[in-house]
This record gives sequence, structure tokens and C-alpha cells, in this order.
Amino acid sequence: MNQPLAEALEAGYTLPTEWYIRDEYFQREQHRVFRRTWQYVGLLEQVAKTGDFFTVQFGTTSLIIVRETETTLHAFANVCRHRGSQLIDGDSGTCTTLQCRYHAWTYRLDGSLLKAPGMADEPDFHPDQFALAAVAVDTWGPFIFVNLDAHATPLQSLLGELPTLVKQTGLALGDIRRRIRRTLEIQANWKVVVDNYLECYHCPVAHPAFCDLIDINDYHVTEYDSFSTQTGALKKSAKRGKGKHGYDASQGVTDGFYAYLWPNFTLNIYPGPGNVSLNLFVPLDTHRTLAIYDYCFADAVSDRDVADFVRFIDQVQDEDTVLCEAVQRGMRSGFFEQGKLMLSRERALRHFQHLVYQSVSDE
Ligand code: FES
Ligand SMILES: [Fe+2]
Repeated sequence: MNQPLAEALEAGYTLPTEWYIRDEYFQREQHRVFRRTWQYVGLLEQVAKTGDFFTVQFGTTSLIIVRETETTLHAFANVCRHRGSQLIDGDSGTCTTLQCRYHAWTYRLDGSLLKAPGMADEPDFHPDQFALAAVAVDTWGPFIFVNLDAHATPLQSLLGELPTLVKQTGLALGDIRRRIRRTLEIQANWKVVVDNYLECYHCPVAHPAFCDLIDINDYHVTEYDSFSTQTGALKKSAKRGKGKHGYDASQGVTDGFYAYLWPNFTLNIYPGPGNVSLNLFVPLDTHRTLAIYDYCFADAVSDRDVADFVRFIDQVQDEDTVLCEAVQRGMRSGFFEQGKLMLSRERALRHFQHLVYQSVSDE
């Protein structure tokens, strides 16, 4: 195709296959997308008290998220300023200071250097020049996001009207807590996984339980600057208790609401009692993605209802995983160059692929 790619995308052609299977694009995305965008890392409940911390991995970079005071949260590179050792090994904990195991340099919870044993008489050593490297951290409701780019625009400008739309679903984000975290490695490029999330053209074929719950003839996609939403009405037949989908959606939120936020975060509210499930699709390499699923519920939702609900979602995720892995294999076959979208159903993919193109392209 000789058409410039921006025009081809506009016309509903997909990103060329090489964007999904060549390492060169993966490397560019790491620098031009993932080191510059807000990334979901966890929930405020994980750092509820002063000194609570957890660590997260971003490609080759580990970060520490730590609460300094009731109102102050920090994110630091998990790297000691003495000789560069990774500072904290564990996933989470509570501490009063952050101490390196190598030579015991010790940092306050605000990242400043508190102690560097034996260094007091060292010439040309200025402790105030050796604070931990801070990265931007911000929150939306109970969700924590970080950004490795010191010049990042505020999280709020990325979110735009998304918080308002979530509020309009009737779900109170302040009431939810995480009950389950699942992680799954998908043998597909992260963009295949996002593409798959962004359309329900495949739902009647691939998701019988989902289609038993949601009326896909009353299903709507809306694009915004940095996010898109899909909404689907609860099927009339599903208002009468558990059907094939297997959980009771008759009370609580009435419609399904599924939001995708650039670049790799999704927030899902299903019909039924207070639930939010978050997906983060972390690129591991060109052909592999780590999917992290955080299932959150209001306290009033019983363990039994949680189990029914999670079984339903797990089934949908498993069905999607099979589809994504089949796409990646097809893309690597040597017989697929560029696809064509059905824009009445797959418009949100075009929106996403435009965002990728704008960030990654050299054109
Ligand atoms: S590398 Fe951390 S104290 Fe030496
Ligand atoms: Fe799906």
C-alpha cells in the first residue's frame, strides 16, 4: 500500500504487521510510550499507613511507592545512590527508613539521604546531592499512577472526563477494595491485547456467557482524547438472576461500562453489585504481554458473589487470551501485512492505533 500510514489508519486499515512483530517497534514503544505515560501501579490501600511501601517493575526499571505521611506519597527509582545497587528486594512491607543491604546507606521516606556509614569525612561528599531519584506519582480515586517522565502533563489532563463518566455509572470508587489479583502471561504483542479489548465484534462468536449478560445490540463505543469507552446494556433476560453467565447481576449497577485509557490500562464495571476490575497490559517483549487483573469489590459483596463473578470474568479473559495468541501466530506467519477494520464496530481500535502511530512513528 502506497498510501501514507496516517491516511490508511483513518480509512480503517490497521497498523502494519511489522509494528506487532519487530523488536525495533518494541524498543521504540518502550522509550516513546511507556517511559512517558502514566502507568497504573496499584491501589492506595497498599500504602494505607506511613511507611507502607510496595515495589513495581517497569521493563528494566524497578520503582518503590512509599507513603511518607498521611497526605504524602512518593515514587522513587529502586536504586541506591552509592554504587547503584537495587535498594529494596521485597514486593511490599512497612519501614521507617529505606536501607540498602550493600553498605547500609539509608534514606528517609522522602528519599533524602539520612545516613552513609563512614562517609562523614569523605572529601567532596555532599549528602544532599544523593537523594533517591523521584518519579511523578498521582492518584485517581483509589488508583495510583506513576510516570517516569519528569515533564509529564498531569494525570488529570490524561483522564479528562473519565472520572465523571465512572461516577455516572453509579459506582462509588471510594467504596471498593481489591479482593483478588491475577497475573497471566499472554503470548502476544501488547497491542494485539489492547486491540482485542477495544471491540465487541467478536463477542457473539467468542463470548457466549458475556452475550448472555450484555445486550450486544445495545452496545456503544465512544472515543475521547486519551481514552475510549464501551457501554452495553444488561440483557432483559439477565435481570432475573444467574443465567449462563453464572452470577447475580440483578442488583447494583445496571449497565456494563468498559473504559480503555492510553496506553495500556482498562477499567471495567459489570452490571451487578459494586465491582471494578482493572486490567494492565505490560509489554514483556515483542511477542509477550503480562496481563495484571485487579478485581475490586465493595465490602458488602459476599465472598460467594465474588467467586461467581470472578469465574465469569476469568472465562471471558481465557477466551480472549486464546484469540490474542492466535492473532500473534497469524501475524508471524509471513502471510499477513495489514488488516481492515469494520468501523461501525471497531472504531475504538482505530482511535488506539492513531495514538500509537502518533507516539511511535518517525513519519
Ligand atoms: S550500593 Fe547501596 S550502600 Fe552501597
Ligand atoms: Fe473479548
